[in-house]
Amino acid sequence: MKNFTFLNPTKLIFGKGTIAQIANEIPVDVRLMVTFGGGSVKQNGVYDQVKNALKNHNFIEFWGIEPNPRVETLRRAVEMGKTHDTNYLLAVGGGSVADGTKLIAASIRNAADPWEIVRNGNLVDELIPLATVMTLPATGSEMNAGAVISNDATTEKFAFYSQHPQFSILDPETTFSLPHEQIAYGICDTFVHVMEQYMTVSGESPLMDRWAEGVLLTLIETAPKVMSDKHDYDAMADYMLSATMGLNGFIAMGVTEDWATHQIGHELTALHGISHGQTLAIVLPALLSIMRGQKMAKLLQYGERVWGITQGGPYERSEEAIRRTEEFFRSLGLATRLSELGIGESTITEIQNRFTSRGSRHGEGRNIDGAKTAEILRACL
Ligand code: NZQ
Ligand code: ZN
Repeated sequence: MKNFTFLNPTKLIFGKGTIAQIANEIPVDVRLMVTFGGGSVKQNGVYDQVKNALKNHNFIEFWGIEPNPRVETLRRAVEMGKTHDTNYLLAVGGGSVADGTKLIAASIRNAADPWEIVRNGNLVDELIPLATVMTLPATGSEMNAGAVISNDATTEKFAFYSQHPQFSILDPETTFSLPHEQIAYGICDTFVHVMEQYMTVSGESPLMDRWAEGVLLTLIETAPKVMSDKHDYDAMADYMLSATMGLNGFIAMGVTEDWATHQIGHELTALHGISHGQTLAIVLPALLSIMRGQKMAKLLQYGERVWGITQGGPYERSEEAIRRTEEFFRSLGLATRLSELGIGESTITEIQNRFTSRGSRHGEGRNIDGAKTAEILRACL
């Protein structure tokens, strides 16, 4: 096990009817801005619950943080926050609203442009505290310090790291209104978060391995239930907690991480607007196949413990583990090939050139450069 420091200060408030608890968590004397996406919260009753909980607070509202939040939109929120001297933020929605709000919180008391903050996070010296009401289980943004921001002008998408939410409210009932495809994207995103922290070097921590495998097995068991009945409260609660546990640092203590699938996926979103979870379903199986050599020991462990694969030589077993992974994504109704989305060689060349000119070296071995990325993407065709 490698040395590590672990700190996760987010207070998690979980369960039915918990949105009302906002009232006690946010001081009444703050200058509060509440941020939202495109309006799903008005249809599913979440907005009314938040408004009701905040009946003794003064607050302003910012609407329109879109999926893959754009810096162009967030700049407007930052201006509004500066004008009102906002000193507390509450994000209500999916990961995009939470992520966008993390950038707003880092920008209000800052002279730098928000995109400069994304690209050079150490420009930040004063963060405004934030909290979330998370309505879409997927990103873990409710309990981590990360955020991923898109730039329309440059067709780029980059992660930056700032602060954990002070508290996050997760009421599984808020997810009952999710469209089928968002549930599929969310399950895939969660699955791949775990894989990015697990499918690397073997033997670093049996404890982390078991926790990661526990989340993967829970997702595999829960996915058919939530895909066939999104009103199954207990199944949705398990999936929601899996998403949080998948990316809040709990399965990453002292172990080597990968994140190359995400880096490649972000480029597919930046260039083609493909939903985050969908990009991962395409990239992960091909990446496992191309990087099989360095991942072999972990692939065999994953195959045996997660999919029960015990027959055959190492190559056959690893092949079967990759095949089962792709089959799982397809069972969610997701595409697993670039060609299904009409994407081909020109996009592969563009991503290769981007990674090469940035000098990118992704993955646990820092050996996924532009050329290796092109090889992986060709295996996604
Ligand atoms: O905008 P509204 O109207 O709210 O609708 C949203 C949006 O259209 C809708 N939605 C959310 N909750 C709903 C709902 N519709 C009905 N009922 C509900 N309860 O779902 C759509 C997608 O929302 P979005 O927030 O974009 O999805 P998600 O939570 O998957 O977030 C994706 C973003 O998070 C980033 C991704 O790159 C992407 O930009 N990620 C953030 C991470 C982090 N902060 O740690 C890690 C992840 O790897 C990921 O990269
Ligand atoms: Zn993700």
